Amino acid sequence: MSNTWTPTSWRDKEISQVPEYPDLSVLESVEESLRSYPPLVFAGEARRLKRELGEVAEGKAFLLQGGDCAESFAEFHANNIRDTFKVILQMAVVLTFGASSPVVKVGRMAGQFAKPRSAPNEVINGVELPSYRGDIINGIDFTEASRVPDPNRMVRAYNQASATLNLLRAFAQGGFADLHKLHRWNLDFVNDSQQGEKYQAMVQRLDETLNFMAACGITSDNVPQLRETDFYTSHEALLLWYEEALTRQDSINGKWYDCSAHMLWIGDRTRQPESAHVEFMKGVDNPIGMKCGPTMDPDELIRLIDILNPENEAGRLTLIARMGHDKVEQYLPKLVRKVKEEGRNVVWSCDPMHGNTIKADSGYKTRPFDRILTEVRKFFEVHNAEGTHGGGVHFEMTGSDVTECLGGAQAITEDGLSERYHTHCDPRLNGKQALELAFLIAEELKEARGEQTSALAEAS
Ligand code: TRP
Ligand code: MN
Repeated sequence: MSNTWTPTSWRDKEISQVPEYPDLSVLESVEESLRSYPPLVFAGEARRLKRELGEVAEGKAFLLQGGDCAESFAEFHANNIRDTFKVILQMAVVLTFGASSPVVKVGRMAGQFAKPRSAPNEVINGVELPSYRGDIINGIDFTEASRVPDPNRMVRAYNQASATLNLLRAFAQGGFADLHKLHRWNLDFVNDSQQGEKYQAMVQRLDETLNFMAACGITSDNVPQLRETDFYTSHEALLLWYEEALTRQDSINGKWYDCSAHMLWIGDRTRQPESAHVEFMKGVDNPIGMKCGPTMDPDELIRLIDILNPENEAGRLTLIARMGHDKVEQYLPKLVRKVKEEGRNVVWSCDPMHGNTIKADSGYKTRPFDRILTEVRKFFEVHNAEGTHGGGVHFEMTGSDVTECLGGAQAITEDGLSERYHTHCDPRLNGKQALELAFLIAEELKEARGEQTSALAEAS
């Protein structure tokens, strides 16, 4: 890290994908409020996540990162938080048990509000207005008033993130995530599906194992690992005024942490080596991610790694590949090979969502489930061929029974999209589709280790 870094040094760099606030005095007073508010996470937690991601980088664990594309003020509800958390727990248990791999669980939750957009303006029926940039910036309604960026939205986002995180902590540590309660995580609409049955079969086997352990004296009363889980939060660090105001110096080691979430990532649109976003992220000591799309060049990647992780610390940097099902074989191997040749310690994660977005004839943005699966499969194939660890996945999902991605075992059709299309931004996997994906990944992970997929095969 250059010694000129400060939490504000990004302000001297070129910035993209942020709003222009009409009244800077409002912005300043909001920043002042946010600076005085308590941090949402504690530096020690960010350090622990980094250690766990270090295990992922070494091939000893797997990263599961998922949640909304964009959280919204309108969908802020305990049931939504609970249901998304349930699906992540289900996926985690499928991976932990099915692939015998520790799973690091990270939500795209409690702060995932700001969205980069492909165009600054949007035209509907000849009317042109600024694009919606996420509830932390402006409103989704297509009216002039709603699209004006309002700094006060940052305060509301902070409060929502804080309440969301509070509930997540309660769920993760307060008994809800107890392995003895596996059946309770099942969602009604998932229950009577093929995935639901497969899950129930696995739960039965797991219950037997837990009963055996209980008979040996190992229960969730005396072994907290059975009763609790560590659940971390993450979002794209896009709105830098917000991120800066929540950046605090740790009293223990004197380093800076962005305390708006445990992990932050840089998007594919803002990752230029000289950009404001890279400048900000290089100086915070959290574990960070960087999205890598098809335009990422191997030499540029090494340059970025040197800026973001100069000490080559395992767990500091997660590279999130988002290539597209038809491009991953062409573009990923050269990046993986270069990083390996240069001896850089990273976590490789697969975002199979963002390279596979299409527009259905009806006008809905959607993602075909089979393309999502194809990208995941090919991601693992590339890592198997290169002798590296396909360390994680990153996806957009929800616990609600939405119809936003096409296909899956439940075969959502183009006509079916309109039934329950609720997303504020990109199409998300629903609970069934997410579970189907988890079973597939568990099989891939076992195969990558050259083991038989007996636990999964028998459960199916
Ligand atoms: N503590 C372990 C872990 O987090 C086991 C565990 C407890 C768990 N509850 C869980 C695993 C829920 C997955 C899902 O991995
Ligand atoms: Mn998205």
